[in-house]
Amino acid sequence: MLSKGPKEKIIIIDFGSQVTKLIARRIRDLGVFSEILTLNQLKKFKDYKGVRGIVLSGGPSTVTSKKFPSIPKEIFSKKIPILGICYGLQLIAKLFGGSVKTSKKKREFGRASLYKKKNSLLTKNFFIKKNIKVWMSHQDAVIKLPKKFKAIASTSQSKFTIIENTSDKLFGVQFHPEVTHTDNGKELLKNFLFLICKIKKRWRAFNEKNRLIKEIKKNVKGDKVICALSGGVDSSVVALLINKAIRKNLICIMVDTGLMRKNEFKNSYKIFKNKYNLNVKIVNSANIFFKKLKNITDPEKKRKIIGNLFIKIFEKESKKYRGIKYLAQGTLYPDVIESRSATGSQTSKIKSHHNVGGLPKKMKLKLIEPLKEFFKDEVRIIGDSLGLDKSIRNKHPFPGPGLGIRIIGEITPQKIKILQEADNIFINELIKKKLYHKIWQAYAGLLPIKTVGVMGDSRTYEYTCLLRAVVSEDGMTADYYNFPSVFMDEISNKIVNGVPGINRVVYDITSKPPSTIELE
Ligand code: XMP
Repeated sequence: MLSKGPKEKIIIIDFGSQVTKLIARRIRDLGVFSEILTLNQLKKFKDYKGVRGIVLSGGPSTVTSKKFPSIPKEIFSKKIPILGICYGLQLIAKLFGGSVKTSKKKREFGRASLYKKKNSLLTKNFFIKKNIKVWMSHQDAVIKLPKKFKAIASTSQSKFTIIENTSDKLFGVQFHPEVTHTDNGKELLKNFLFLICKIKKRWRAFNEKNRLIKEIKKNVKGDKVICALSGGVDSSVVALLINKAIRKNLICIMVDTGLMRKNEFKNSYKIFKNKYNLNVKIVNSANIFFKKLKNITDPEKKRKIIGNLFIKIFEKESKKYRGIKYLAQGTLYPDVIESRSATGSQTSKIKSHHNVGGLPKKMKLKLIEPLKEFFKDEVRIIGDSLGLDKSIRNKHPFPGPGLGIRIIGEITPQKIKILQEADNIFINELIKKKLYHKIWQAYAGLLPIKTVGVMGDSRTYEYTCLLRAVVSEDGMTADYYNFPSVFMDEISNKIVNGVPGINRVVYDITSKPPSTIELE
């Protein structure tokens, strides 16, 4: 790993909660760097010098079992303030001699009303109204407090919903302050950071640029770096950062798979070349991709073919350059969190995602992943600090296999052309109507069914275009966007009139889950 992160931070120990990522998000949004550690990483973690506070996340385990996930006792002797959330609170209570019980009667899922019992630094400006609602998800509860602990707040079901032991700087909340369903949760986290941990509000993604550039320079020195540039936000920010650090020793390769959106490749290339003077080379490979994808209809096969071919072409191109030591990748923090497991279990694979992850092993290159510590919107902010062109900065996410997984059934150059046109009309209309930025991701897809239509006095028999637009926080869950019917009328009309080959437009009204965002 290249980066060691900023000097002062909060660490979050992950016990496997679905929302651990949100704790890190909220803390960073408050201007403090935070990092999530799994229990395995914690075992190897030695550098507590800059750690100003520790958060113990929630998780599916129970401290009522004989064996339960825990943290080494030495951590408590460091006198760093600790906040336990849900399982984290129960763990603190258990380790300090309290009692925790599983109870079907006392369990709480969803919103609960919280009642204040005592004043606490942790709850300053938190109880701003009488009936504070907090979001719960537990069936274990503390039934007896350890010595030196006080109850700060309760619900009707659980007496010890907020607890503290100020002399040992230990705090616990049974609910989840990190989720938006908890009233005023941000205030509670703020108090923990600034009043209890006394950490300074110093961290901003915008200011990370110089540290990252310095680290790249220090690590890469005079060596050469190669980077696969797609024109998406992540790879673009990686390229700009590395370019600032080592200039001409960065070689960017753009593999044109023929599966990109209309004009996207050309436009991005122009920006990289003319605006940033990057050392960038385009490899036109559309024909090879179309040839390999002929007659292929199975989604996973398509993904594998596209991913493998991409790697092969990139590898072949990179061999044309001498002395390359590093491969730069736009890996983001959620990728890092999701690819490791707090509890050791693997989440089941829904789709095989395509990125260039398979490259380094084969190519024997070292990896540089300067964005490994950042969330997507932080990457956009780092992009701002580098003067990233707005047309790239604000782009919706686009999958590695491109339009290949937005055409159901066989991919042909003719279908790609039809889809590019329809997608272009849809996206431009969203921009024109100022809807683009309200939507997390939008695209047109092509269904393999032809249906009968009538245009003028003639019968048509053409493809169906599916439109998808979703709102989401991180792509893990999503809701379909509710367009006004006027927009629906207009867009259907524009696509059918503007794109020969399409005579029907449908809108996808499923959320994720049960659907996924992409079609394949
Ligand atoms: P799904 O379809 O799994 O998509 O709900 C979630 C998010 O991931 C993007 N996606 C991909 N991104 N390579 C990528 O880099 C891929 O193979 C890939 N497949 C899906 C998708 O566009 C959405 O933003």
